[in-house]
Amino acid sequence: MNHFETRNNQLYAEEVPLTQIAEQFGTPCFVYSKAALQAHYQAYEQALQGCDHLVCYAVKSNSNLAVLSVLARLGSGFDIVSGGELARVIAAGGDPAKVIFSGVGKSLDEIRAALNAGIGCFNVESALELEQINGIATEAGIKAPVSLRVNPDVDAKTHPYISTGLRENKFGISMEDARTLYRKAAGMSGIEIIGVDCHIGSQLTSIDPFLAALERVLLLVDELGDEGIEISHLDIGGGLGVTYKDEEPPAAGELVGQVRSLMGHRAMTLVLEPGRSISANAGILLTRVNNIKSNGEHHFAIVDAAMNDLIRPALYQAWMDVQPVVPNAENIARQYDLVGPVCESGDFIARNRELAISNGDLLAVMSAGAYCFAMSSNYNTRNRAAEILVDGTEMHMARRRETYQDQLALESPLP
Ligand code: LLP
Repeated sequence: MNHFETRNNQLYAEEVPLTQIAEQFGTPCFVYSKAALQAHYQAYEQALQGCDHLVCYAVKSNSNLAVLSVLARLGSGFDIVSGGELARVIAAGGDPAKVIFSGVGKSLDEIRAALNAGIGCFNVESALELEQINGIATEAGIKAPVSLRVNPDVDAKTHPYISTGLRENKFGISMEDARTLYRKAAGMSGIEIIGVDCHIGSQLTSIDPFLAALERVLLLVDELGDEGIEISHLDIGGGLGVTYKDEEPPAAGELVGQVRSLMGHRAMTLVLEPGRSISANAGILLTRVNNIKSNGEHHFAIVDAAMNDLIRPALYQAWMDVQPVVPNAENIARQYDLVGPVCESGDFIARNRELAISNGDLLAVMSAGAYCFAMSSNYNTRNRAAEILVDGTEMHMARRRETYQDQLALESPLP
């Protein structure tokens, strides 16, 4: 079911017309659907029934407290990559015991904070990190639950910036090194080996790379088992893609089904770290056309959202669908570049898009629930957008629009 639908010639978020949200909260503004978040999360839960599992939503994709609280109430775990994300999960009512901590650059303070909070697992990415965690845990007289993140050297066939499972990427530990490190970890007083982890990339539209990586990881699990190192938790990361345009990624259920059958008889808790497949299509960015201009044959619609609000098109050449909120049959269709007010030619939301629009129109950038607000900045001293979570007919201001005062508050001119 689509939670952003056209009714009576205008686009709605669940039961609320987007025009109403724009009027009440202004633009640019992100709008999230609670029902969509729930449905996307439940798709994983349903496919995992009958199998020990933990779905750990990747906080980085959309870390708004309201979004996190929707998932926490469903019992979701969380995949974090910083102390800041841990603070968010706790503030949103998430259970620290269901938190896994990924990332190549955990600081000592972050490791301490996560240990104190009693997180479920550290996904360790290097020999030095393992030693650091061991040192801190030993000092505290506890054992840190640990998985090693292995790099299975598999091509995820996605954009190079979001491909993580190749030897040339900075992520994970090679399979050879992992064997040695597991043996070492088994003798460390502050370490409790619980699992193995891999994450090969994001926006994957085929199951094959997941299975290729899993086959290698399972081989390692079996070898370690033969040596008496028992792996009880298998984390296959996140990365399942979504439809932005015409991609046809497998459904969560299909991925989980194939993973389960490859796991076979092995009794392990299956952990997943989905971000985008839960949040991307649960959100849109609402923006208003502020000006229309033509340079010769080239038509530009200048909107009030910019690359600081939504950087995916500029950074990854990402294609995101744009729809007029109230289509007007009297508008003439033209090929537009949709650009923002930021002083860079890279500041575009969409290019060469056939749109029938006029100045002042409201537009919705679709699939903007993941990696959009979360990657936003104050570039050009632009206030970051408001975020609204819709639940049926209710609108919840999940984050108010920033003010210039908010931005200036952290800085001081020379006395
Ligand atoms: N686990 C780990 C260790 C990750 O690095 C990531 C994403 C995920 C889980 C969640 O992956 P997902 O299910 O969302 O694909 N900003 C980029 C995407 C960066 C992904 C980084 N890692 C974009 O806008 O496409």
